[in-house]
Amino acid sequence: MSRLSLNFQSGFESPILIDFKGSRCYELFVLLTIHGVRESMMKDSTATRRPTVAEVDLRALSFNYRQIQKRISKRAKILAVVKANAYGHGAVPISLELEKLGVEYLGVAISEEGVELRKGGVKTPILILGGLYGNEIDQVFRYRLTPVVFQKDSFHLLIEEAERRREKVKIHFKVDTGMGRLGIPTNLWPSFLKEIRQSPRVEIEGILSHFAMTDEGGTTYTQHQWNEFQKAIAIAREFGISFKYLHMASSAPLATFPFYSGDLVRPGIMLYGSYPSPMYQNFIQLRPIMTLKTRIHFLKSVPPGTKISYGGTFLTKRESLIATLPIGYADGYNRLLSNQGEVLVRGVRAPVVGRVCMDFVMVDVTHIPKVTTGDEVVLIGRQGRERISVEEVAEKIGSISYEVFCSIGERVPRLYKE
Ligand SMILES: Cc1ncc(COP(=O)(O)O)c(C=O)c1O
Repeated sequence: MSRLSLNFQSGFESPILIDFKGSRCYELFVLLTIHGVRESMMKDSTATRRPTVAEVDLRALSFNYRQIQKRISKRAKILAVVKANAYGHGAVPISLELEKLGVEYLGVAISEEGVELRKGGVKTPILILGGLYGNEIDQVFRYRLTPVVFQKDSFHLLIEEAERRREKVKIHFKVDTGMGRLGIPTNLWPSFLKEIRQSPRVEIEGILSHFAMTDEGGTTYTQHQWNEFQKAIAIAREFGISFKYLHMASSAPLATFPFYSGDLVRPGIMLYGSYPSPMYQNFIQLRPIMTLKTRIHFLKSVPPGTKISYGGTFLTKRESLIATLPIGYADGYNRLLSNQGEVLVRGVRAPVVGRVCMDFVMVDVTHIPKVTTGDEVVLIGRQGRERISVEEVAEKIGSISYEVFCSIGERVPRLYKE
């Protein structure tokens, strides 16, 4: 049997040293017995699952959609970017809602995401923004997906397959006007057009490009990219190609330069109620659509000098009430929030203490009156008069709201509020 040794230095107020083959469970057990637990069970004894959820407000999604509509020209249509599980919000429910709102197109990164939408009942045209990787051509036909094309080979493969099947397929060409990521570089665009063979079975429905500097407000570069895009469209015309959709603007240019909208605009982050960067808050009013919440799983009072979590990076300075929350970095609560993040309990901010673990995070709730096990905790979103924005969390981890949303793990159920 393992040996448990306790060393009380000066009664209950002192740190407890425990040597139990490094077992943290026993450390916790001893602390509990000595200092008492407020309540050991969740208040709601009917709970059948962990209370960590991401609530998604579909009315706020529709508000944001309408706000974007107001911002663009009357003739422009919306391609809603729902890649990466709709930025972590749940691709199928978000897409079905956008479909109800009359969205023109949906944008995914990879064909599998398009297949998931079709299997979920989505009928709206779907653009595969990231292009094709090889053996996905069958999926393109089977699930009526529209690939973005920027390579001759994949264009010709699509033509061959369309002719073999005697079916039609739509594609959008992508030109690189200065992003340096995907797309036919504009200097190679004329030779690309010269070398491709066309087929009545392949409809070249659109042309797109992507702005690189709009998040930083880089007007000159943005103007340059727009001019390059216009030139590419004019060159295509010389080759007898005209497009139903010309599209270049994602959220940031939409907010600042609605002039650059084209016929189709591609917002992502703004649909989810966040801004590409803080400077856009003055241009368009949006409502956050996600609330990340959980409930206090365990509450204990500990004496001053108690170490909290791995590495003992936090040491209580006073008799403290420490709440353990059932959410960790495996759920997307970033480890950089260790000793840095804040959450809301009973409408009051409570600091994260110690390191964020894979499945748990501890917060100091000593200053919050009447706090109890089972209390709701908001990690992103509003509670009472307080709000923790996704931007605040992103700033603390040196990232952007996009990454915070996309990191929310698969085991966090998304609940939809109509
Ligand atoms: C090609 C493309 N268009 C549109 C978007 C949407 O951008 P945002 O979320 O900033 O609106 C993205 C996002 O990464 C993208 O890659």
